[in-house]
Amino acid sequence: MKEVSRKLLDVQQDYIDKIRLENDVLTRKPLAFVETYGCAQNESDSERLKGMLEAMGYDFCDSTEEADLVLYNTCAVRENAELRVFGNIGALKHQKNRKPEMIIGVCGCMMQQAHIAEEIRKKYKHVDIVFGTHALFKFPEILDGARKGGRIFENENCDGEIFETESCHRDNPPLAKIPIMYGCNNFCTYCIVPYVRGRERSRSAENILKEIKAVADKGYKEIMLLGQNVNSYGKDLEDGLTFAGLLEMACKVEGIERIRFMTSHPKDISDELIDVMARNDKICKQLHLPVQCGSDRILKKMNRSYTREKYLEIVKKVRQRMPQIVLSTDIIVGFPGETNEDFEETLSILKEVEYDLVFSFIYSKRKGTPAAKMPDCLTEDEKHKNFDRMQKVQNEIAKKRNDAYFGKTERVLVEGLSKTNAEFLSGRTEGGKVVNFRGGSELVGEIIDVKITETKTWSLMGEIIK
Ligand code: SAH
Ligand code: SF4
Ligand code: F3S
Repeated sequence: MKEVSRKLLDVQQDYIDKIRLENDVLTRKPLAFVETYGCAQNESDSERLKGMLEAMGYDFCDSTEEADLVLYNTCAVRENAELRVFGNIGALKHQKNRKPEMIIGVCGCMMQQAHIAEEIRKKYKHVDIVFGTHALFKFPEILDGARKGGRIFENENCDGEIFETESCHRDNPPLAKIPIMYGCNNFCTYCIVPYVRGRERSRSAENILKEIKAVADKGYKEIMLLGQNVNSYGKDLEDGLTFAGLLEMACKVEGIERIRFMTSHPKDISDELIDVMARNDKICKQLHLPVQCGSDRILKKMNRSYTREKYLEIVKKVRQRMPQIVLSTDIIVGFPGETNEDFEETLSILKEVEYDLVFSFIYSKRKGTPAAKMPDCLTEDEKHKNFDRMQKVQNEIAKKRNDAYFGKTERVLVEGLSKTNAEFLSGRTEGGKVVNFRGGSELVGEIIDVKITETKTWSLMGEIIK
């Protein structure tokens, strides 16, 4: 670990100890309500923030009403994510009037943007704490300032460092999320992520493996390795380790039975990675490979660095080595300048690849990104019509893909009770498909054989094989 990082970690620990001592003398533990928006990286950051809160003597609650501390970890990727956050913090104003000692904090990607922090400073005076993604490690110090009665804003850019923290309050066993790198260098022209998360930086293999071993010791069977573009893992390190190499090391950790990862950028999928995936049984045969759109003209404007043809070649290679692969993707509809002809190409790539799952979004203008200044040609109404059409096409494909599982037996890791029916358990196949089936809660965390008896668009139903 770099020297500066070590020192900052010591400072972090000092503040954790200080707040812990103050909380220990209270008649009850203070309660924190933490809500997370956005992607798995943000969820992982929240697990670390919650770990720090736990170490500081906080307990957690499920509503803002009971909370002594409310913390929203925010996402900036689309406008509607931002609007929800403003709505939520606006709604806390009356609560804060009734309970002035309550601390309200907002952190994460949205807060890394200066114009947003400024808006909160001026218009949301009941918010006590604002800090961006680069200041997560300073949370205990920031919280200490707010507990003393100050308003703390901390969103300067201190890119380039990785601040390890040993605190982590994981949300959902049996799966553990393990960040392997932070930031993004790709600057897709529509995307805010590189501006709010900074440049790519990889954690050391030593720290990653230490964390994987620790979760294995705690009984976690599945890990998800996280990064905005995991395939470029290691490019900033000096030891020559690649993502494929890291995966092989992770496979050797005893107790870990399944390894997934997200997200893969098509431009960086190497033959080495495909080979390592195909050779190792522990690596789940699942790949999230965002294509964003099917038209070369638009892909170029998006700065995605691959063509439709190159993308299809990768899919072909992956399917040749792993015919059972479950493929998913992200699509943006209505990128500036996208015509109906471009959109037809997106429909055609969906039909050609036949993805198991598609996450689709209508383009959302992000201040400060190059695409925000590009001329547009379709109306919002036309974009929505295309979006609906695409979803219809994809739903049929997804159902057809799921139908192929009928009658098959799948290895399923039981994750918990089904959200819609307490008599059912919910788990995932190796490919990551959700399966619901009758069974007792003692099976949670086990990997069992389930025969698929019914297929739906978004999930499968099954029966346990005794
Ligand atoms: N690093 C990942 C994804 C990060 S954001 C990758 O490159 O695939 C997740 C998804 O949000 C993106 O894949 C994209 O489809 C979508 N997205 C990003 N910016 C967007 C915007 N301005 N409007 C609409 N969707 C967007
Ligand atoms: Fe955004 Fe592109 Fe980076 Fe993904 S690869 S986070 S879409 S800039
Ligand atoms: Fe959103 Fe930040 Fe993730 S902008 S998608 S939470 S990296």
